[in-house]
Amino acid sequence: MNAFSLEGQVALVTGANTGIGQAIAVAMAQAGAEVIAAGRRDCDETLALMGAQGRGMRLDFSDPMAARDVFAAERIDILVNNAGIIRRDDAVDFSESDWDDVMDVNLKSLFFTCQAFARAALPRGRGKIVNIASLLSFQGGIRVPSYTASKHGVAGLTKLMANEWAAKGLNVNAIAPGYIETNNTEALRADPARSQAILERIPAGRWGRAEDIGQTAVFLSAPASDYINGTVLNVDGGWLAR
Ligand SMILES: NC(=O)c1ccc[n+]([C@@H]2O[C@H](COP(=O)([O-])OP(=O)(O)OC[C@H]3O[C@@H](n4cnc5c(N)ncnc54)[C@H](OP(=O)(O)O)[C@@H]3O)[C@@H](O)[C@H]2O)c1
Repeated sequence: MNAFSLEGQVALVTGANTGIGQAIAVAMAQAGAEVIAAGRRDCDETLALMGAQGRGMRLDFSDPMAARDVFAAERIDILVNNAGIIRRDDAVDFSESDWDDVMDVNLKSLFFTCQAFARAALPRGRGKIVNIASLLSFQGGIRVPSYTASKHGVAGLTKLMANEWAAKGLNVNAIAPGYIETNNTEALRADPARSQAILERIPAGRWGRAEDIGQTAVFLSAPASDYINGTVLNVDGGWLAR
């Protein structure tokens, strides 16, 4: 057996049309999984990159319960909760809608999607969940209060679910990506002073690529990581070590 292979596994990746989600879907397909690329719109580019290993599904987490029936309908072995949004404003001005929108997609949807997955996977006694956390699961950040609250929540819920389900065969872990070149960080990269300051603090000396997260997600979904439970794995070029 190749402990790093996903051969024979069915994986569902949320927010798979772009960025980190796309890279995770493609890396999992390359590792042998059959991948369901879920998005609030069609994931055409991701499907083209995955070829015969992939298929699409519409999941829009503006309804946090959107995935309630997905896992009862077919066997899905691996769930990657990647969909996420960010809103920026001074804490003193931050609006209720910017709070609720981010918490609903990043935290409430993630929990209830995990719950729906677990209800189907627990009777089988096996399954893997990979949640996408953030450096802001550990740090405070600036001008992103709902994002920081949601990602601290993702780290906490990852541990809670691991505590409840590890002995029942489900691995629940998270990845905390560092600064990755995607739409999510476009505003930071468009600001030359901010972009330079970030780069200077990264021991690896470069921004992260979505593929860096894709390969880690494969590892946390494969048999090689069967004894890893409740971990939030930093993939940040050393940022948090500094
Ligand atoms: N880039 C980084 O440096 C970084 C660092 C730490 C953590 N992260 C996390 O990594 C994850 C992926 O982000 P990214 O960097 O790849 O950014 P991105 O390119 O903006 O991707 C975000 C994904 O989430 C989807 N999404 C947003 N709202 C949704 C909804 N209501 N229902 C379903 N899907 C929805 C987006 O779909 P649309 O394209 O339709 O909007 C997109 O597929 C997020 O959880 C983010 O917080 C990113």
